[in-house]
Amino acid sequence: MRLILLGAPGAGKGTQANFIKEKFNIPQISTGDMLRAAVKAGTPLGIEAKKVMDAGGLVSDDIIIGLVKDRLKQPDCANGYLFDGFPRTIPQADAMKEAGVAIDYVLEIDVPDEAIIERMSGRRVHQPSGRTYHVKFNPPKVAGRDDVTGEELIQRDDDQEETVKKRLKVYHEQTEVLVGYYNKWAESGQPGAPKYRKIAGVGPVEE
Ligand code: AP5
Ligand code: ZN
Repeated sequence: MRLILLGAPGAGKGTQANFIKEKFNIPQISTGDMLRAAVKAGTPLGIEAKKVMDAGGLVSDDIIIGLVKDRLKQPDCANGYLFDGFPRTIPQADAMKEAGVAIDYVLEIDVPDEAIIERMSGRRVHQPSGRTYHVKFNPPKVAGRDDVTGEELIQRDDDQEETVKKRLKVYHEQTEVLVGYYNKWAESGQPGAPKYRKIAGVGPVEE
């Protein structure tokens, strides 16, 4: 199974990815998690990316496309993959199309902007795994601790309200066009076209 999870910051891509990757036994390819790992490791990419991420902008297409192409060469992608937060621009989507990267489903998680700020302010993350919780909507079994490892949960630097607003603006300006892009491709009926499904992301996580 080869999937793209499309949706605004805080729509619940990472949360749902957790279930989907288990069900299909496929790796989650989250460009955001990859960048945060580079930031933590202090690599040149991480140092550059941190500035952009903290400002709520997008890291350059060339860097992201290179990262994903390298990741897809790893053997665990043979059985499929789940893209989370990628592609995020037309050039990123075109690069995958040109490289012949197959996609079965594009799943759009739809959440109105009004709900996003509250989700972000309550989000807590287990950094090594990327597992995500919410103090109110999806609390960990022990407050402040990861369910699997018991390690401490943190808040993301880019979850401050002003940064979230900027990220939402960038989503509407640069990423939302992919809704039309993939819908059009799905409707074309061309060989290799993905199927497109829009899912309401406002119910409980399990729903
Ligand atoms: P990235 O890490 O991809 O962040 P994002 O797209 O902004 O999305 P989030 O991770 O914030 O949200 P999510 O949809 O995963 O929601 P979650 O499940 O955590 O990117 C970060 C940055 O990296 C970007 O800003 C950019 O700078 C850079 N970057 C990454 N990819 C890039 C790319 N391809 N190109 C260029 N730059 C790139 O849920 C959010 C909260 O809500 C959680 O607390 C969760 O518990 C809660 N929640 C989830 N579902 C529900 C529900 N149904 N009801 C109530 N609460 C819920
Ligand atoms: Zn995420």
